[in-house]
Amino acid sequence: MRDDPVLERRSVRRYTPQNVEEKDLRKLLEAGMAAPSAGNERPWHFVVLRDRGLMNGIMEVHPYARMLEQCPVAVLVCCDPSLEKYPGFWVQDCSAAVENMLIMAVQLGLGAVWLGIHPIEERVEGLRRLLELPEDIVPFALVPFGHPGEEKRAQDRYDPSRVHMDGW
Ligand SMILES: Cc1cc2nc3c(=O)[nH]c(=O)nc-3n(C[C@H](O)[C@H](O)[C@H](O)COP(=O)(O)O)c2cc1C
Repeated sequence: MRDDPVLERRSVRRYTPQNVEEKDLRKLLEAGMAAPSAGNERPWHFVVLRDRGLMNGIMEVHPYARMLEQCPVAVLVCCDPSLEKYPGFWVQDCSAAVENMLIMAVQLGLGAVWLGIHPIEERVEGLRRLLELPEDIVPFALVPFGHPGEEKRAQDRYDPSRVHMDGW
């Protein structure tokens, strides 16, 4: 267990060849699904990727995803808009799921990074085609996970000029 996984979290883009165990993958998915969502609507689906051919395909449609070359497993967080109870909130729901997984990765001693897909249409279409997602499913963000192959230190980003008390 880390002292403060939220403050220690950094984007880790290099991984060792060691696999991510199924029990850790399960915890990552549990963390994603434990996220808050509007009216508890939980509009998400999670696509687990271990296939090298698919990772290579994703690198062709996503220009900032070279770390997929090394990563043993990645999870694509998708939205099914038909599950929304409160239209318009799904991006916030799915973002909470992604962040929960990133924090759980720190707890498990794993490295991870948020790769943005939505709202960049070429990436959305590319992922849909490659993974044969239904037309109404929106690929939102991809998160590669692996044992860290680089050390990233926590950064103190506290900025008092961005804090406003009792109004602006
Ligand atoms: C919406 C979003 C999209 C991102 N997309 C990418 C990406 O495509 N490739 C990448 O390497 N990092 C991506 N990142 C990670 C950011 O670059 C990273 O969070 C930021 O530089 C701060 O660094 P830190 O995560 O180490 O604190 C993304 C982060 C967010 C929140």
